[in-house]
Amino acid sequence: MSHPITCIEDLRLLAKRRVPRMFYDYADSGSWSESTYRANETDFARIRLRQRVAVDMTDRSLASTMVDQPVAMPVALAPTGLTGMQHADGEILAAKAAERAGVPFTLSTMSICSIEDVAANTTAPFWFQLYVMKDREFIGRLIDRAKAARCGALVLTFDLQILGQRHKDVKNGLTAPPKPTLANLVNLATKPGWCLGMLGTKRRTFGNIVGHAKDVKDVSSLSSWTAEQFDPKLSWDDVQWIKDRWGGKLILKGILDPEDAEKAAVLADSGIVDALIVSNHGGRQLDGALSSIAAVPAIAKAVGDRIEVLMDGGVRSGQDVIKAVALGAKGVFIGRAFLYGLGAMGEAGVTTCLDIIRRELDTTMALCGLRDIADVDARILVPSTMPDAAAFASMR
Ligand SMILES: Cc1cc2nc3c(=O)[nH]c(=O)nc-3n(C[C@H](O)[C@H](O)[C@H](O)COP(=O)(O)O)c2cc1C
Repeated sequence: MSHPITCIEDLRLLAKRRVPRMFYDYADSGSWSESTYRANETDFARIRLRQRVAVDMTDRSLASTMVDQPVAMPVALAPTGLTGMQHADGEILAAKAAERAGVPFTLSTMSICSIEDVAANTTAPFWFQLYVMKDREFIGRLIDRAKAARCGALVLTFDLQILGQRHKDVKNGLTAPPKPTLANLVNLATKPGWCLGMLGTKRRTFGNIVGHAKDVKDVSSLSSWTAEQFDPKLSWDDVQWIKDRWGGKLILKGILDPEDAEKAAVLADSGIVDALIVSNHGGRQLDGALSSIAAVPAIAKAVGDRIEVLMDGGVRSGQDVIKAVALGAKGVFIGRAFLYGLGAMGEAGVTTCLDIIRRELDTTMALCGLRDIADVDARILVPSTMPDAAAFASMR
């Protein structure tokens, strides 16, 4: 590369060149018209920051906590399926980069590298994301495996019991590993670095599932596995047995409505859950849903301090992080931002992504006149540009 990488967009463009099309498209897409996927980013851009001057900017601190775990900045890596297809051994590389940056890494149920693979290659506790399947025995064992790997938190995803169709994945015939069709082979021939990496690893399909779930020797297609195995009956009542089996910190992911946030807060009142993630799954599930950042104020207002509020969706910069924190999120998760880094340059790319976000966050906080992330609140935002906490008021 002749130009230095200065922003997440640079990483995206590089990933687009280096990652086989079906996996690049899998990351860079939303469901149906992708309107919620786009709104996640554009709604951040609408929010304006207040520039403050002539304040002491020395000794700044971004250190915070997420579910009581110390973090170097309030950012975690989101769980993403098939991460080991963006780059060989992708989950291990991303977890290492996160560990070095002092932020949590979350391993997806649908990862390529297994829980044990990531545990063997890291020392900091990572978090594990759980999808609930019909085979509860398998889910119980998955929870036990996360416990044995000393995962620091369990992230229970609530918004994907059926799959929101993503056109590109269907058209590309997404599988892991890719099927040797003519179109795939032609595309793979243009990605020699990726192919070399894949030839050098044994991890090429769903590591948490193949060989662990009953009768599953081969799961190549995410969509058929989801359709057959994910339990459409998952309910609020299931949270209790999951907590009992797990015993540790529990985070509910995929809350987008204040009424659901209230239900999560009730579970938090009785010590069953610790945090919720305001999320629309990165615009990959209910297309037409509100953007995540637009939902944050109403949810933060609805739950107060009964439950920790985290968010994800559309975070592409440190400015986005500070806006989410100002609106009431204790921390954010990044999905695509780190996947682009990973696809572009492996572990170094994830490190670059986190460096970029940390620098942007730090500089932005200073230019807003603050030195400690703990002091960031809605006062750094121009009020007329903030999403409205009353957005849901008339629905009640
Ligand atoms: C390629 C990809 C795969 C994902 N896989 C999962 C998953 O396995 N489990 C899950 O809970 N969320 C999954 N998500 C959603 C992310 O955890 C997160 O909610 C979303 O990426 C946040 O939006 P952002 O990508 O704009 O940062 C995935 C997202 C992407 C982009």
